[in-house]
Amino acid sequence: MKIILVLSVICMVIFGMPIHSGEGSQAEPSGNTPKILIAFFSQTNNTKTIAEYIHSFVGGDMFHVTTKKPYPADYNGTLQVARAERDNNERPELATTISPEDMEKYDVIFLGHPVWFGTIPMAMFTFLEQYDLSGKTVVPFCTHGRGGPGRSVSDIASLCPNATILQGFAVAGSSVNQAQNDVAVWLRQLGYIR
Ligand SMILES: Cc1cc2nc3c(=O)[nH]c(=O)nc-3n(C[C@H](O)[C@H](O)[C@H](O)COP(=O)(O)O)c2cc1C
Repeated sequence: MKIILVLSVICMVIFGMPIHSGEGSQAEPSGNTPKILIAFFSQTNNTKTIAEYIHSFVGGDMFHVTTKKPYPADYNGTLQVARAERDNNERPELATTISPEDMEKYDVIFLGHPVWFGTIPMAMFTFLEQYDLSGKTVVPFCTHGRGGPGRSVSDIASLCPNATILQGFAVAGSSVNQAQNDVAVWLRQLGYIR
């Protein structure tokens, strides 16, 4: 028994095999820990708060999608700009992005956004249209102003053909500060935490 223990420690040192912590990450059937990305757009930080909860539970890399042209600081101003983008089916240029090559290394992509006009903001169309997420797992989450996720999940699904879309999480923006436990329950149901 002692010999096996010593041999496995030597193995880890020589081959750099990861020591699986068990908590906070879902093992894949192959035994590999999936590489997780938490990518989100957030204008007033509600969705960012949920992204941070997810990160605290599952780890991985966080990525804040932002536009080159910032939205006005006030709600009505943002509404006006965003409505024009939606009406014109625009793809706002992004200030921050991930190259398709870098996206390749992720297995699981948590995808967060505020609900804008019943779906994802146009910037998330810009973001998603850059990638082929075939074979990856996409986990949507959103915050809203009590209108619910709308058609955001089906829009995400049509932008990520051949990805596996898991059960999403949606919460009113006004409730994000009380939502940490609900996020944990959801992640536990999906098997990302034990
Ligand atoms: C341009 C715009 C459009 C919105 N459209 C909707 C909507 O269709 N349904 C809804 O419930 N909330 C809507 N909201 C409210 C946001 O979804 C909500 O405040 C969200 O929590 C903001 O998230 P954030 O802080 O991450 O930007 C809208 C807000 C803005 C600014």
